[in-house]
Amino acid sequence: MNWRNRIATNESWSGDISNLEAKTKVANQVSRYVKDGDVIGVGSGSTAFLALQAIADRVKQENLNVMAIPTSQEALLNCATFGLKTTTLAADRPDWGFDGADEVDAQHRLIKGRGGALFAEKLVMASAEKTYILVDDSKFVSRLGEKFAVPIEIDPRAVHLVETRLEGYPIRKIMMRMAQSKDGPLITEAGNLILDVHFDRIEDEFEKELSSIPGVIETGLFIGYSVEILTV
Ligand code: 5RP
Repeated sequence: MNWRNRIATNESWSGDISNLEAKTKVANQVSRYVKDGDVIGVGSGSTAFLALQAIADRVKQENLNVMAIPTSQEALLNCATFGLKTTTLAADRPDWGFDGADEVDAQHRLIKGRGGALFAEKLVMASAEKTYILVDDSKFVSRLGEKFAVPIEIDPRAVHLVETRLEGYPIRKIMMRMAQSKDGPLITEAGNLILDVHFDRIEDEFEKELSSIPGVIETGLFIGYSVEILTV
């Protein structure tokens, strides 16, 4: 089997896909929204991978003219593997998009960015009229930040400045995200670092406040975007 075929199977996902059955159902659900001529923002992560696969199947079967705007190199590679044409935010605006999430609360506030693609994910979400957030039961929380840290992507030169500016926030712990090899810090696709910040409490204004700290590129708090939660 060549790599193209390998990567197009669920087995090829690096690591097992948790809650595969629920994620597959929700992936199939979003694939029904695809129409001829759509420009679609493509999220990152395992649920987005399954959704992309389902969408690509429809595009192929019905010979639809669809363009994808990927939110990461991983999503770009998956588009190529599944034969979906891609474009960029510089050239096109997504009609709608889909993505996964790490946490969703009752007000549909999200934490995203476990895969480190938060910067492009937010650019694409903010550009789309609507984004379907595909989640299984495990993603719903009663308090945002209950299970996951909020990733904050920062310019490497801003580490100390950002740490200082975070003093005064209700924070339990801050961890620098490490590369999988554990040899050093994870470097994002944009050449930045990620601080994983465990908050005791998250308020709506934190997203804007944190983004205004010099050196902060983006945060994994997604509050007030035009999202529709799809779940099973
Ligand atoms: C990547 C993300 C993902 O959408 C999020 O981590 C959910 O991933 P999965 O669908 O694999 O559970 O934000 O940056």
